[in-house]
Amino acid sequence: MKILRTDPLRPDPQVVKTAAEVLRRGGIVAAPTETVYGLFADARSDAGCARVFKAKGRPPDNPLIVHVDSVEMATEVAEVPAELYEVLKRVWPGPLTLVLKSKGVVSRCVTAGLETVAVRAPAHPVPLAIIRELGAPIAGPSANKAGRPSPTAAEHVVEDLGGEVDVVVDGGPTFFGVESTIIDVTKRPPLLLRPGPFTVEELERFFGPIEVPPVARGLSEADVAVAPGMKYRHYAPDTPLVVVHFDLSAAAAALRSRGLRVAVLCAVGKCAEADAVLRLGDDIYEVAKNLYGALRELDRLSVDVGLVPAVEERGIGLAVMNRLRKAAGHREAFNLEDLLRYELG
Ligand code: TXA
Ligand code: MG
Repeated sequence: MKILRTDPLRPDPQVVKTAAEVLRRGGIVAAPTETVYGLFADARSDAGCARVFKAKGRPPDNPLIVHVDSVEMATEVAEVPAELYEVLKRVWPGPLTLVLKSKGVVSRCVTAGLETVAVRAPAHPVPLAIIRELGAPIAGPSANKAGRPSPTAAEHVVEDLGGEVDVVVDGGPTFFGVESTIIDVTKRPPLLLRPGPFTVEELERFFGPIEVPPVARGLSEADVAVAPGMKYRHYAPDTPLVVVHFDLSAAAAALRSRGLRVAVLCAVGKCAEADAVLRLGDDIYEVAKNLYGALRELDRLSVDVGLVPAVEERGIGLAVMNRLRKAAGHREAFNLEDLLRYELG
């Protein structure tokens, strides 16, 4: 494995060239996007794609996102309805993935044999430069081991996949820290599959009313998977985590008085005394950005339980709550009684 550093905003041409060369030969490259780090292969390469699945330990029926540099490139891999074309011109590049009808030109490995394909143009100079240098779309999931939090820094990628990837492009921490918003526009109204930095409020300005199913809020695991990836457990630290909707101090104190070692993840002005304190930030964008790093940190603390306050489900807060609920294995407490019902420690 080679680690190549670059300024995220002005990608080093030599680094971009090397990355594209590795991809051209069927190799795999981890690189930042504005959301999280991705693990990329040439979207046309069966061999490259197979290596991505193997490195991640990802089930073969869970398709990858195809990353393009433009709406034009998207039309090469997917059917883009005329009315969507102008909309995409306005929303891309950005943290928004669209599920569209596939033209079948990317590797079948990438789409897991589906008739649809997930496509996005990332708003990050590094992957955009790599796609342009390669002259083709790149396919990739988040660059974590399956079941681990998505990587928001190059160190996370090395931690999870160090031995398996050819090149890690280190462009520093990612900008948003949670994965892109995914909507299925083959459905009427468009269906939100995963909330992200591109908010529902913004989506509705461009796409009209959007359907937000409970599973997109993280309220349940989909048993009939709407997005193939939804049936797999995600973002889970080993330390049990609880989302707390009442007074955080009271929650922490109650568990500590029962002999448990407690970490609190402080967010949006809510904090408490505990055995360990991880600060996510007071601004909701800061919370999103620091969340996955904190979940990795939580497992290094050797505490019995983590507590995190619930945040408001609007704007990027919808994405934050979705990730928190999943990380907590859907443990949510609205009062002390709820909290003490969970088997913790
Ligand atoms: O921000 C992101 O989206 C990052 C960066 C690297 O772009 N990527 C990412 O990829 O989060 P991944 O593989 O971790 O999540 C992609 C999700 C999976 O849940 C997958 O099941 C879903 O997209 N997906 C891919 N193709 C699909 C399709 N045709 N229909 C429905 N869901 C699809
Ligand atoms: Mg992922």
